[in-house]
Amino acid sequence: MTEQVYESFDPLLLAEQAENMVRLCERFGRYGMYSEEGLNRGIGEDLPQRYDAAMNFVRTGGRLGQVEEQDVLVARTNYFRETYAYGEHVGTPGIEPFLHYEGFTKAAQQIHGRPIIEPAIVYANLLVPGQQLATHTDVPEFRGANRRIHPEWLLVVMHHSELFDEWRIPIATAVSWFHNCKGGEFHFYPNGAQAPPQVHPVRFNTALILDTDSTFHGIDRVAERGPIAPLRPGMQLTFEGDRSWAVRSNGSVIARYRWEDLRFSISWKAYCFADEDERQSWQTHSDDLSVDFVLERLIDDLRARGRLRGERPGDHELALMLIDEYIHFPPPAAA
Ligand SMILES: [Fe+2]
Repeated sequence: MTEQVYESFDPLLLAEQAENMVRLCERFGRYGMYSEEGLNRGIGEDLPQRYDAAMNFVRTGGRLGQVEEQDVLVARTNYFRETYAYGEHVGTPGIEPFLHYEGFTKAAQQIHGRPIIEPAIVYANLLVPGQQLATHTDVPEFRGANRRIHPEWLLVVMHHSELFDEWRIPIATAVSWFHNCKGGEFHFYPNGAQAPPQVHPVRFNTALILDTDSTFHGIDRVAERGPIAPLRPGMQLTFEGDRSWAVRSNGSVIARYRWEDLRFSISWKAYCFADEDERQSWQTHSDDLSVDFVLERLIDDLRARGRLRGERPGDHELALMLIDEYIHFPPPAAA
């Protein structure tokens, strides 16, 4: 995918509103780990949801090309996430200035050239020292194809294949920061995966908005003073008062951190519709894709490209072939 539009905000909110986002983060107080969800049946069986990004990370060692032990990789990449709002629904009081920030709506209209912007979700990500997020593109959505039905890697393949553009609902994503962070830079590739990335430092009350479904991006390692804590799926990050936080496993403390050592971001995602008709067919499911149609079209394309000859391979082999054929990750940077 080629050049992508993005916009940065500095400052984002009024200083007092930005401080309130930190208070909101503390009030919320408890963040679960964002681990792999349950596996799908059929084509996705036995594969992690983000097999594409995980495989690339393990194979290349991420952007810095540093290959590590499996348990260290698990600790580095299992970060913490909770949702603050779904759609226009204010799940967490105090999020309103952020949820309804006009600048995001205007920028989202520019990014996709589509006038109707409908907020989908607002969520917080928290990373502790030593954590990072592998380079990836986000999970896109199509009419009739979404993560409730399809494996996430397949949705990513669908978008990269460009074979299902007429069913895609473009999404704009804003990522915002409310403290200064040591390390944890947001890296992204607005000029395509083969061009050098932009490396964006995390600074108080700033944001970026872009099409994260089309632009490769990730989070560089948050600065650490020693080995990473033994983080495992199922742990929680909790506010302990006075700018102090702890990772807990079944109540017992695994690690303690100061607020300034963490990396906190809030993301805003919105659907971008061309017109009311398009929004309607999204809501009423009048033009939905089916899983069988998706796989048939991809397999036909693999044959047309000469990648596949003879019999359709088994699900697992087909999955690997699709990821390899369509998703072209940026190369690791020179260490
Ligand atoms: Fe992402």
